[in-house]
Amino acid sequence: MELAKRLSKLGTETAFAVSTEAAKHTEKGNKVYPFHLGDMNIKTPENIIEATIKAMKAAKTGYCPNYGISQLREILAEDINRSHGTDYTIDNVAIQPGGKPTISKFFMAVMNSGDEVLYPNPGYPIYESQIEFQGGKALPYTYHEGKDNFELDIDEIDKRITPRTKLIVVNDLQNPTGAEASPQELGALAELIKRHNLFVLCDEAYFDIRYEGKSLSLASFPGMAQRCLLLYTFSKKYAMTGWRLGAAIGPKELIDVIAKLNVNDESCSNHFIQYGAIEALTGDQSGSKEIVNTLRERRDIAVSMLNSIDGIRCYKPNATFYLFPNVTEAMGRKGFSDYERFRRAALRETGVSFCTRLHFGRPLPGEMDGPDPQLYIRFAYSGIDVSDIKEGLTRLKEWLDS
Ligand SMILES: Cc1ncc(COP(=O)(O)O)c(C=O)c1O
Repeated sequence: MELAKRLSKLGTETAFAVSTEAAKHTEKGNKVYPFHLGDMNIKTPENIIEATIKAMKAAKTGYCPNYGISQLREILAEDINRSHGTDYTIDNVAIQPGGKPTISKFFMAVMNSGDEVLYPNPGYPIYESQIEFQGGKALPYTYHEGKDNFELDIDEIDKRITPRTKLIVVNDLQNPTGAEASPQELGALAELIKRHNLFVLCDEAYFDIRYEGKSLSLASFPGMAQRCLLLYTFSKKYAMTGWRLGAAIGPKELIDVIAKLNVNDESCSNHFIQYGAIEALTGDQSGSKEIVNTLRERRDIAVSMLNSIDGIRCYKPNATFYLFPNVTEAMGRKGFSDYERFRRAALRETGVSFCTRLHFGRPLPGEMDGPDPQLYIRFAYSGIDVSDIKEGLTRLKEWLDS
């Protein structure tokens, strides 16, 4: 069989390969501390499960409209309007089987072959994969370690833009860095986007996973809602990663195209789960508050333990469930300069499993071979309890100090 040539451009989430290695380590009888995968070991709130079962029993088990059920689209538009100050209606919402499908459908709908697309790197690896697989040119922009947050350099982004640059992916409240742009930075980004007439994939997967303050969307700035396609997901806020439900929210003409792509792809999203999603948005919110409280406790412990390790420097992000510590010194003291050798040794010696910067996009020119390379690893604390965070990071500290 001859496979399609374009597959050479298709990337993947290499974090799943780390899971396979971690599973092998467990099979050999070792304890693994799973900081590598952004999945959740927290159960979906009971009221959502009940509402879904009720819908199944009420025979909501056939196809539903390709846009999703009207009631959910309406409620979601209202919910987003409340948090974003937008004026979306049902016409601006197409329900999706998860947050991720909005990424590939966005590029299918608005990107032509050869178009340049700015995307965050390090960043969620599916952007780079889909841009290149679908014939676009992926132009990375990066985050810099600031005083107490990873920061964007808006001038640097500006300089990267050419007449062929059509699109930008923005993932504020970012995976993997946990970075959050200030309102001033977001405002400057909005101005740049308007000046260069760009269209935006605004990945808001972590909009509601925040511990202090209030999330701000690019779509809330004047004139931006018509330039943004929002990626919405139920996965994180309601601990529904395995349910596969999300939405694309944006200008009607784009939503109509995305709904047509739904017909060509999955026909419609899972029907009865959409009733669970209505309960998620309109019912008792104590479950989702509890999820954030659980994650906050994990964050606080993980950050303070990582910062207690000599040679590790870790910010305390206000949002997401990721940490992206700088481990340059710790690796150097242990004699490592290679990410994969370090990651495998840590797994073998301590059971602590994590991703490295390499799992979040191709390294940038000069990043690894410059005079002072800075090295980062990513810890996800969404799938690991406090007791195991403590035990795992104690083991990591002992190993790195030895
Ligand atoms: C930045 C970002 N966008 C999108 C997604 C996909 O979310 P979902 O699991 O709902 O498809 C993830 C999942 O980890 C993510 O980190």
